[in-house]
Amino acid sequence: MTRYARITGTGGYLPAEVKTNDDIAQTVDTSDEWIFERTGIRSRHIAAPDETASAMAEIASRQAMEAAGVGPEDIDLIILGTSTPDRIFPSTACLLQQRLGVRQGAAFDVQAACSGFIFALSIADQYVRTGTAKRALVVGSELNSRVVDWNDRATCILFGDGAGAVVLEAAEQPGILSTHIHSDGQFQDLLYLPNSDVGIDDERYIQMQGNEVFKVAVNTLGRIVDDTLAANGMDKSEVDWLVPHQANIRIIGATAKKLKLPMDRVVVTIENQGNTSSASIPLALNEAIRDGRIQRGQVVLMEAFGGGFAWGSALIRY
Ligand code: UT7
Repeated sequence: MTRYARITGTGGYLPAEVKTNDDIAQTVDTSDEWIFERTGIRSRHIAAPDETASAMAEIASRQAMEAAGVGPEDIDLIILGTSTPDRIFPSTACLLQQRLGVRQGAAFDVQAACSGFIFALSIADQYVRTGTAKRALVVGSELNSRVVDWNDRATCILFGDGAGAVVLEAAEQPGILSTHIHSDGQFQDLLYLPNSDVGIDDERYIQMQGNEVFKVAVNTLGRIVDDTLAANGMDKSEVDWLVPHQANIRIIGATAKKLKLPMDRVVVTIENQGNTSSASIPLALNEAIRDGRIQRGQVVLMEAFGGGFAWGSALIRY
């Protein structure tokens, strides 16, 4: 009997504070018009000083576990994508494990920048499908507001904070149809977050050559959606929903166009969330499942692209 991994619960968390484009325009030379037109963003959520990636992950995870009807005793794998861990070690996944009262299985972080959730999902899928894990918690949680330079208009307008989570369980029916992950380190200098205490850089904040990243992102995502459908012998017309990483509405629009998918079949959260890095896909998925847009049995294509470059996709029958 073929074994699959299936999403049985989702959760999301956005901090209470909202920072609008107009708020940002008070400190750097920009405007709501420029930001909205170039990115699709109007506002983003900002974590409170006492909030951490593990604290946000806990709220999203509890929601996902409740939706799946499982408790801490049922989870035997936690994989968490983040670029803003509470500590370098132990992993934020370990801190989350403790917060949730999970006492069994393994917990570890995945560092794949904005593709962290897709990488984590891909790993969890392998463990669940092979029977090595029964029930995995897959999380993306990011405190981008602490690692952007609020004086740099080229980056501070883009990012926001938040966390999203899914419970992945073994099932006889799909489930996750396939995942595809890739990296190319030759692009490392186009988008990076320094680790100035022990690393090789003097800067402290996210560094990005936005227009270079943009070009590679559009081409790469166009390619990966084709590859993903081809790997499953599926046609574009069979995709019900695109749940993309939310980096820029123009990048999302280009991928939707490639798929010949109207924008009302694309889950877009960027307007009020900005780019929450590895949290953006599980947050969008959670929103569209909870408001009834994504229905059981529908085909959902998720894709992400970010620092590394690292990129990936997952095709699921929800
Ligand atoms: O999630 C990880 C992956 N990240 C991404 O995918 C980000 C991809 N990149 C982008 O989304 C876009 O490149 C940005 C939104 C970051 C920038 O948009 P752009 O259309 O590529 O603008 P640009 O960087 O080419 O800059 C165009 C102009 C420049 O002025 P000049 O040189 O033409 O006079 C910038 O200085 O826009 C200026 N500019 C701004 N103006 C007003 C840059 N940032 C701002 C700003 N407000 N915030």
